[in-house]
Amino acid sequence: MRLRHKPWAKEYMEAQEHIFIPNPDQLKGKWAEEFGNDHPLFIEVGSGKGQFILGMAKQYPDVNFIAIELFESVAVSIVQKLVDTPMPNVRVLTVDAKQLVEYFEAGEVDRVYLNFSDPWPKTRHAKRRLTYKTFLATYEAVLPKGGEIHFKTDNRGLFEYSLQSMSQYGMFFTEISLDLHADEPEDNVRTEYEERFSALGQPIYRMEAVFRPKN
Ligand SMILES: C[S@@+](CC[C@H](N)C(=O)[O-])C[C@H]1O[C@@H](n2cnc3c(N)ncnc32)[C@H](O)[C@@H]1O
Repeated sequence: MRLRHKPWAKEYMEAQEHIFIPNPDQLKGKWAEEFGNDHPLFIEVGSGKGQFILGMAKQYPDVNFIAIELFESVAVSIVQKLVDTPMPNVRVLTVDAKQLVEYFEAGEVDRVYLNFSDPWPKTRHAKRRLTYKTFLATYEAVLPKGGEIHFKTDNRGLFEYSLQSMSQYGMFFTEISLDLHADEPEDNVRTEYEERFSALGQPIYRMEAVFRPKN
């Protein structure tokens, strides 16, 4: 993701109440109140400019969605789109996924999406991959027992690593595709990166991984 300096982003986002949440720790355990309903809550970690989460929110109006994006200069694009086309079932947070437990109670999140996460190809950077075991533990802590991660990438190395990391963590897989677009499901919502890499002829890898319930 190319980062552009946008010094106005924070102030602009903070003015958009009920789109951007500046202090998400205050809503821990209270997201149903914030949305005004008890619909399922799906989060996307590393939402980029939001094409996926906004497409999903449109397709599934009875699901609440939260975009988690580290950088304000990137997340502001999601907020701008929501200002142009309001959607009551989306909120945006600019926080680091490693701190999810500060913002969500155990079991408060119903599903985690990871799309085209940064691959961090150097072994010494493995801990930064969003499927490294410490991140998996964080997702597990906010999901219900048997919670799911849905993962897409163009990066074969990251896909292989993630299968291994999740498997070593004790997760199992209910879906694995090595070429999602060869027979693209009708309900697939493409991300920005997915469009870009697919246009270059690269296969898109996808999996659904499930945490094995612990006693
Ligand atoms: C390569 S982009 C993919 C964007 C989008 N998901 C897509 O598929 O088009 C990865 C995004 O993840 C964000 N990101 C990386 N690490 C993160 C973290 N620890 N917490 C939240 N967001 C993160 C980056 O800032 C970047 O915008």
